Formats: sequence, C-alpha cells, structure tokens
Amino acid sequence: MAMEKAEQDRLKMEVAERALALVKPGMMVGLGSGSTATMWIRLLGEKVQRGELKLGGAIASSEDSERLGRSYGIPFTNFEETKSLDLTVDGADEVAPGLALGFALIKGGGGKLLREKIVASASKRFVVVVDESKVVEKLGRFPLPVEVIPMAEPLVRRELEGIGFTPKVRGNKDGSQYITDEGNLILDCSGVMIEDPAAMAKKLDGIVGVVEHGLFLGYAEMVLIAGEGGVRERGR
Ligand code: 5RP
Repeated sequence: MAMEKAEQDRLKMEVAERALALVKPGMMVGLGSGSTATMWIRLLGEKVQRGELKLGGAIASSEDSERLGRSYGIPFTNFEETKSLDLTVDGADEVAPGLALGFALIKGGGGKLLREKIVASASKRFVVVVDESKVVEKLGRFPLPVEVIPMAEPLVRRELEGIGFTPKVRGNKDGSQYITDEGNLILDCSGVMIEDPAAMAKKLDGIVGVVEHGLFLGYAEMVLIAGEGGVRERGR
C-alpha cells in the first residue's frame, strides 16, 4: 500500500533512532546509504559531535555517506587498517523474511550496492532499517539494480533479457547516465518476481560484465521495521 512521504519519513526517523541505540563506544561502524541510513548517520554524527560517543572508526558505503560522516567529525578508517566492522546499519528497498538463508533483500535503489555489499560482507552485525512498506513476501516488485562495466552493458542487458528481465540503464534527472562511485552503470531490472533468490543470485554472478547485483542474501542479522505500532525487531 502506498504511504504518504511525511509518514514514511517519520517512520524512517523512528527506526534510525532505534538503531542508534545499538552503537556502543569504541565500535568500528559501517555507514549505509540512502535516506534512512542518512538519518541514522546524522543522529550518530550529532552524538559524536556533542562528545557523547567515541567511535573506534567508520567505513562508509558511499562517498555521500562518508562526506556526511566527516562533516560531524566521525573518524574514518579503511580495510587496510581494519579487518572487520562491529556493526553496520543500512536501509533496503525490499526485505523478504523467512528464507532458509535468512533475510533476502533488494538494495541499490540509491546506486550504492557495490560498496554496500562490501561493507555488509565485512560486518559482524549487519542491521537493516526500513519502514513497513519495504517488507514483502517475494522480492521483485522493486526493480533489481545490477551494476555493470560500461563496455559490457549491451552484452549484460541481453543476458538479463534472456532471464526475463526488462533492464533499463539508470539515468539522472538531466538525462545523463547515472555513474556509480566506481565508474560503472546500473541496469534497473524489472518484470521478474524472484521465486528463488539464491538461484537468481547465482545466475547473475555468472554473467561476465556484472560487477555486483542488489540481491543481499543472508547478510542481515536483524531487521528493524518501523510501522504504526512502533519499531519491530526481527532476527535471523
Ligand atoms: C542505496 C540503498 C538504500 O539503502 C535503499 O535504496 C533504501 O533507501 P531509503 O532508505 O532511501 O529508502 O540500497 O543503494
């Protein structure tokens, strides 16, 4: 069901506040991307700025999130200095619970899926923050973002059409192509309800020229869902 933007923003803020409580002094944290993760980064940053929380360090899943974090004085590190992160908080475009492999997510609506998956894979706890409009029985209503090497885009597009998708190169408002932080294109793939996310991920992983796709399977340890009755917590 469609949700008013103001109501959705209120829920996003509520869930961001809940996720703030998970951050403890000294933690190495991963900063997600998107509007919900941004609310969380702002709350976290304000706490750091007020001197109420000292973090061990942070790694962001996008240049935007890193810029925002730095503006509050959050200390940044990298995977040379830091082997793993204690906690990452990130949003999602769709969340399907209850699969054998844990939560299945579609991410990448903001185009940051590659770094988001890298950060998620290096996190001991990957916590997803969503409002209840994002929770689905089956993934696929939200077009699946697939990041591709520009030169391979026509080849990858045909492969994705062969699977049944209708892929569309993501554009910016000014008509130019959207370019990821890593210099690649995004194909937004609609038209397929994903019955078996693991089998789909395997197919996508097998296409040469695909850098990464927005299926995040088994990464989320916990999903915080904001709805009418408050924030619900669902574990793996
Ligand atoms: C960016 C993402 C975002 O986390 C996802 O699109 C959700 O964003 P929002 O919180 O704005 O709804 O995956 O690549």
